[in-house]
Amino acid sequence: MSPVAQRPDVAHPQTYGVGVPHAEFARMRRDEPVCWVPEPALWRRGGAGRMLSQGSGFWAVTSHDGVVAASRQPELFSSGRKGAFLPDPRTTADLEQARQLLVNMDAPQHSRIRRLVTAVFTPRAIRALQDSVAAHAHHLVRRAVRRQECDVVADLAAELPLLVLADLLGLPREDRHLLHRWSNNLVGFDDPEYGGGDVEAYRRTFFEAFQYALEVAAQRRRSPRDDLMTLLATSEVDGRRLSDREFCSFWLLLVVAGNETTRHLISGAVLALLSDPAQRDRLSRDGTLLPEATEELLRWVTPIMQFRRTATQDTELGGRSIAEGDKVVLWYVSANRDARVFDDADTLRLDRDPNPHLSFGMGPHFCLGAHLARLEAQTMLRELAPHLARFEVTGPVVRLESNFVNGLKSLPGRFTSPR
Ligand code: HEM
Repeated sequence: MSPVAQRPDVAHPQTYGVGVPHAEFARMRRDEPVCWVPEPALWRRGGAGRMLSQGSGFWAVTSHDGVVAASRQPELFSSGRKGAFLPDPRTTADLEQARQLLVNMDAPQHSRIRRLVTAVFTPRAIRALQDSVAAHAHHLVRRAVRRQECDVVADLAAELPLLVLADLLGLPREDRHLLHRWSNNLVGFDDPEYGGGDVEAYRRTFFEAFQYALEVAAQRRRSPRDDLMTLLATSEVDGRRLSDREFCSFWLLLVVAGNETTRHLISGAVLALLSDPAQRDRLSRDGTLLPEATEELLRWVTPIMQFRRTATQDTELGGRSIAEGDKVVLWYVSANRDARVFDDADTLRLDRDPNPHLSFGMGPHFCLGAHLARLEAQTMLRELAPHLARFEVTGPVVRLESNFVNGLKSLPGRFTSPR
């Protein structure tokens, strides 16, 4: 086999089942930081049975300066033209549906809709959640340590964001399991254990989640409460309420973005610390390190590996000519290991400062939930760090097959007795 044939395919979801192909991204940054990547044909299941589906191919932007340059020019690299997700919308109706989602909008509509909830996510508003986040994290860690065993993903990393999200939205805590299932099915679309590439199941998940949201919205309009569901269901943009479709889409984006990402940050962070005992012990000894450590773990894990843009006109990026309509993929996971920006980029350094990682993106779509994600991760690490030296992994660490999120499905282990 030629060396080229042995290269991992950065576009294929299965590649990530064994880990992020960091060596291949390093090669791409070195040799061709903006390069054309053909997409593999992937099996999908739909009403008409199994079919092969192949994307258009894309320009992979892998350097830090390339990702920053494209993110800062949303008028040239649009989120709205074809959406911000790697798979191409199959029909005009699919594209129209996708455009109801904040992440798939361009200005001016994007800024109008985003303004609706910015107040909920300011640093001040998030600080007000500190005590309840701390109580959840304390309870979860105490329960796991008492039982002496846990799956870090299911029992800790998934639970904390789901509990916080249920509180924020004003939903019964037991409904968090619905949110969990819906987001697994949507984000895990390519993973055989979750979505399994089944287009109909994907649509059914949307439908079920939307029905649920509409019922809660109707209740909140009848009897408003001090929660995010009420805000979304009753607020007006330009003198009119969000339509049902707009409301449901915004709600679902918050549900998915607010739990998957933070789950993968926490479980990826724990795995990184378990693999590096010196850094792990340093964190448990010195809690003042937590803010910098959280940023470094965000860089290290990069829970969302990429988002997509579409060129609005013929242009140039990193010395390459990009044609109007071309798909351009911003690989945050690669930019975050760019040695031109990060000294010793392949080493986890919990005290790294400055740390201009791009894990929350950049520009007008910069993550709305960044402060919340930081608070949750820091709080969980503060609770968990003192116990990590006694944690032994007891089973296989299972990774999600996804080219979008860098995720673990399972990290089982037990707490050994103190010596
Ligand atoms: C570690 C956790 C998280 C990571 C790594 C992350 C990552 C990102 C990234 C990279 C974007 C940019 C999208 C783009 O450029 O097209 C984004 C946008 C967004 N995130 Fe997060 N996110 C996290 C947590 C959260 C949380 C907790 C919430 C809400 C509860 C949230 C809500 C959103 C929303 C609504 C957007 C869309 C913003 C827009 O289009 O204007 N995220 N996130």
